[in-house]
Amino acid sequence: MRQAYVARYPALPSLLFFFFFFLLFSTSVIAWRPWPHNFPNTSSPDFGSSKKYEGSSKFVHLRYHMGPVLSTNITIHPLWYGTWQPSQKRIIRSFLSSISAVQAKRPSVNGWWSTLRLYTDQTLSNVTANVRLGAEKNDRLYSHGKSLTRLSIQSVLKSAVSGRGRPLPIDPAGGLYLVLTADDVHVQDFCGQVCGFHYFTFPSIVGYALPFAWVGNSATQCPGTCAYPFAVPDYIPGLKPVKAPNGDVGVDGMISVMAHEIAEMVTNPLINGWFAGPDPAFPTEIADLCEGIYGTGGGGSYTGQLLKDGNGATYNMNGIGRRFLVQWVWNPVRNYCSGPNALDQ
Ligand SMILES: *[C@@H]1O[C@H](CO)[C@@H](O)[C@H](O)[C@H]1NC(C)=O
Ligand SMILES: *[C@@H]1O[C@H](CO)[C@@H](O)[C@H](O)[C@H]1NC(C)=O
Ligand SMILES: *[C@@H]1O[C@H](CO)[C@@H](O)[C@H](O)[C@H]1NC(C)=O
Repeated sequence: MRQAYVARYPALPSLLFFFFFFLLFSTSVIAWRPWPHNFPNTSSPDFGSSKKYEGSSKFVHLRYHMGPVLSTNITIHPLWYGTWQPSQKRIIRSFLSSISAVQAKRPSVNGWWSTLRLYTDQTLSNVTANVRLGAEKNDRLYSHGKSLTRLSIQSVLKSAVSGRGRPLPIDPAGGLYLVLTADDVHVQDFCGQVCGFHYFTFPSIVGYALPFAWVGNSATQCPGTCAYPFAVPDYIPGLKPVKAPNGDVGVDGMISVMAHEIAEMVTNPLINGWFAGPDPAFPTEIADLCEGIYGTGGGGSYTGQLLKDGNGATYNMNGIGRRFLVQWVWNPVRNYCSGPNALDQ
């Protein structure tokens, strides 16, 4: 069983081998997003179906693998790669700053975080309540080009923590690093297989094992997949997009993907925490289980019951001064996906 390798920390060469292996295969999605490969032609019976499904505990064997969860204060460091508008940054910062905002109107981003707080480590320490926005870094000139691989994203981070100008602080205890790529940056597997991923940096590249996530702005490349349901793919007839709460399809779509990756980073930062499935090379993590589920009744292409603001935009939770649409996460106590806008809680 491969997980033994994760738990026992084998000698460095095999450890590195597994790191690379994990890097290539560290994302697995069992819930719903309109991936092109799921829709080879338009007469498959599954299009636009609305299954009454909010994640089922029957086949899910979520397990704790004895590694850490992030129980100490978290500081999130965004790294803006490429051209970002101030208005776009404001939406993303606002979401990150809303995580610990207990005063926000319900259903709130903070209420969404409370499900993550149910996860504990070996010492029975819960995931922390305190998340704050830390130092940021701009990489305006595309230091590693407009086409990145999973590995070259680590080099981007390496430059950010060690380069000229004000480097990002190195914070292995509570730092989370978010590499956010502008809409003209191509990333390996982006749009075809992933909208974002998380991992931790390799000491051999960056010098430290720092949990990080990458999320791309899909606005020009695949909004119908990665910014669904604010855009819909043309290979699924009959689906209508909904209006984005902050008026930016690409960035509003990134919010849920970011939330997904952050949820997984705090419960599985070193890929030996909480995940389902027998194989840590293909972990099914707590947000994978609920991808595409934003409200009661969600499943398939149906998002579940959502809220509408005065301008007709769709959302499911409030932050400080803004609204967001964020997917639910697996609740380890109830054994199903849950979120702050659930009708039955
Ligand atoms: C399209 O899907 C239908 C129903 O699943 C199948 O019968 C048909 O062979 C498919 N057509 C192509 C071109 O793959
Ligand atoms: C963690 O964050 C809380 C709330 O911001 C603060 O009161 C506390 O001092 C922090 N703890 C540490 C160890 O930094
Ligand atoms: C910590 O986790 C335990 C186990 O899931 C849960 O019962 C408890 O309510 C959690 N504490 C907080 C503050 O969420």
